[in-house]
Amino acid sequence: MMDWTDRHCRFFHRLLTRRALLYTEMVTTGAVLHGDRQRLIGFDPAEQPVALQLGGSDPAALARCARIAADYGYSEVNLNVGCPSDRVQEGRFGACLMAEPKLVGECVAAMKAAVSIPVTVKCRIGIDDQDPEAALDAMADAVVAAGADTLIVHARKAWLKGLSPAENRDIPPLDYGRVYRLKAARPDLPVVLNGGVASVEDARAHLAHVDGVMMGRAAYREPWRLLAVDPLIFGETAPHVGPREAAEALMPYIARELAAGARLHAITRHVLGLFQAVPGARAFRRHLATEAVKPGACADVLADALARVLDRRAETAHTAAA
Ligand SMILES: Cc1cc2nc3c(=O)[nH]c(=O)nc-3n(C[C@H](O)[C@H](O)[C@H](O)COP(=O)(O)O)c2cc1C
Repeated sequence: MMDWTDRHCRFFHRLLTRRALLYTEMVTTGAVLHGDRQRLIGFDPAEQPVALQLGGSDPAALARCARIAADYGYSEVNLNVGCPSDRVQEGRFGACLMAEPKLVGECVAAMKAAVSIPVTVKCRIGIDDQDPEAALDAMADAVVAAGADTLIVHARKAWLKGLSPAENRDIPPLDYGRVYRLKAARPDLPVVLNGGVASVEDARAHLAHVDGVMMGRAAYREPWRLLAVDPLIFGETAPHVGPREAAEALMPYIARELAAGARLHAITRHVLGLFQAVPGARAFRRHLATEAVKPGACADVLADALARVLDRRAETAHTAAA
């Protein structure tokens, strides 16, 4: 998610779930080809499995970027057909490509020809006055014919005229039924549902109808929820027994990244929502927000913030012992 997630965020999320597939924010083909590539798409192998999301609509450029993604070790490359920002529309990519399924098919075919890792597409159910039945079917036809491995569908339209990108994530109504129908009509196409999924329990319920669920804002704002992914979805134990242990496991990473020149806040800003409905959760957030931004702030700031959170389990054990 642009401006929110980055490699620090993914490293942290990987401490909460081993199995969830993590995605980068959208990176344009121009940035991958001409920008500071290591800074833009470099990542720590510990984040795996990670998919690189590309923004673009030039098949040759996308093929080159897919090749670069595969060489970097990404597990999947994904094409953005859902972003509604003006900048993206000017570049003729993102959600406006919902009106150009043939071009999206050409992009996917070029990427598929360039790599052996999965090539996936993330789209909307339609844009503006498109009929979602016809628009999503046309997109699915085009990407399936081109060999796409999975279609991720944000289950609402994007209204390109009149709404801001933020409004386009909330105002057009969600239509999960449309995504369920897509899957029912195409049993061979892996379909992933996205949009408004607030908990891992809700995600599991959607799995009765689709192959996968992508969580955005809930996963970012309330990362503690990710601790439920491995047990509830995959029947495996979580990497850490609780949020505190996950935060402690982040300490060595912080020390390493600070030594390499990172600023503490760049990492701890992703951790703010780790505790919820626990005494001290607000003090934890406040301490990180005020102290981690100070020059020279080090991992001790996170340790001090953690000390402000009451450890429920320790308290329960204490009560039981008494
Ligand atoms: C700040 C922010 C940045 C986003 N950036 C991207 C992006 O780079 N690529 C993308 O496919 N979706 C992006 N999205 C959209 C989310 O991936 C997701 O489709 C949307 O928020 C609906 O899912 P949710 O309700 O689970 O958050 C972004 C969302 C937010 C809030």
